[in-house]
Amino acid sequence: MRRAFELQAEWCDRLGSSFTARLCRVLGELIDGGTAIGRRLLAWPGDPEKDAPALRLCGGLHFLVRAGIVPELGLLYPPAPLPDRAVLAEALQRALAEQGERLDSWLDQPPQTNEIGRSAPLMGGLLSALAHFGLPLRLLELGASAGLNLQLDRYAYDLGGTLVGDQASPVRIRPTWTGAPPPATAIAVTARAGVDLSPVDPTTGGERLLAYVWPDQQDRLSALTAALEVARHDRPPVEQGDAALWIEQNLEAAPEPGCLRVVLHSVAFVYFPPESQARIVARLEAAGRQASVEAPVAWLRMEKMPEEPEFSLRLRTWPGEDRLLAWTHPHGAWVKWLG
Ligand SMILES: C[S@@+](CC[C@H](N)C(=O)[O-])C[C@H]1O[C@@H](n2cnc3c(N)ncnc32)[C@H](O)[C@@H]1O
Repeated sequence: MRRAFELQAEWCDRLGSSFTARLCRVLGELIDGGTAIGRRLLAWPGDPEKDAPALRLCGGLHFLVRAGIVPELGLLYPPAPLPDRAVLAEALQRALAEQGERLDSWLDQPPQTNEIGRSAPLMGGLLSALAHFGLPLRLLELGASAGLNLQLDRYAYDLGGTLVGDQASPVRIRPTWTGAPPPATAIAVTARAGVDLSPVDPTTGGERLLAYVWPDQQDRLSALTAALEVARHDRPPVEQGDAALWIEQNLEAAPEPGCLRVVLHSVAFVYFPPESQARIVARLEAAGRQASVEAPVAWLRMEKMPEEPEFSLRLRTWPGEDRLLAWTHPHGAWVKWLG
């Protein structure tokens, strides 16, 4: 378990999050049999590396800090300067001892995220599909979390100089873009729906999502806060369920003239069981066989394929072909456009 905390700290260092790295390192050193949280962690029944217990605990602590429940610890969190290890250890020890019951429930569940930055490559992919078909969009998102990427047309983008989306939006997305900009096409979403095994209600679950963002990543915290606000006004519909069954019920194989149906997902497909993955592909291909230029279907995905070094953005259209459109940062901070 201590090694899992150290490995997580090394990842945080590599990603430039020195406060979260220090948090993980200090927590890994101080957990012991003296607190209920320490005992639970040291007797962890699962895989300490795969289960991400360090991120579960950091999420719980960040939640308490944001809620003002542990003010002494909160004073050491960003934007305060990187705290001294001993001072941080003392405040953390107290929080673990005094807030054990609250923190315990955070160890039960894996981190839940919804990354707004991924809307950048996804929007580039939609623009590509639209340049081809020029129809209103019906979006179907798999593994949608709180649906914050399902409302991607409600954000303002600068994609390598292409200004698209709602330019009055409080959510402004401007990744570092290399390669040609995507085509500047007007976008109209006429219907949207999503599914997730554990959907997050943006009106009540926003703090949970915010807690899992590392506290030293202020830009992501700000973007997520603004996107949650947008979602609270008009909640993107996300149903609870398994992606495969849902797509079978929501993507008719029969053609739907006058709209471009887009099945999209980001950093989700790899979490679906292989049987679900196969059923999703089968349903898309069934719909694709009946598709036409008047009733096209598209499959847009931003995923990290095991055999590839980076996250990729791919677009398959019916009629059409499968294309690799871009390589991208896991959170969409940069996009290398090939399409
Ligand atoms: C890493 S999160 C990504 C969330 C969102 N797509 C994003 O990019 O921010 C993966 C999501 O997939 C969901 N998920 C995992 N297995 C699923 C399944 N079989 N059916 C539907 N959703 C699933 C999880 O609950 C989680 O919300």
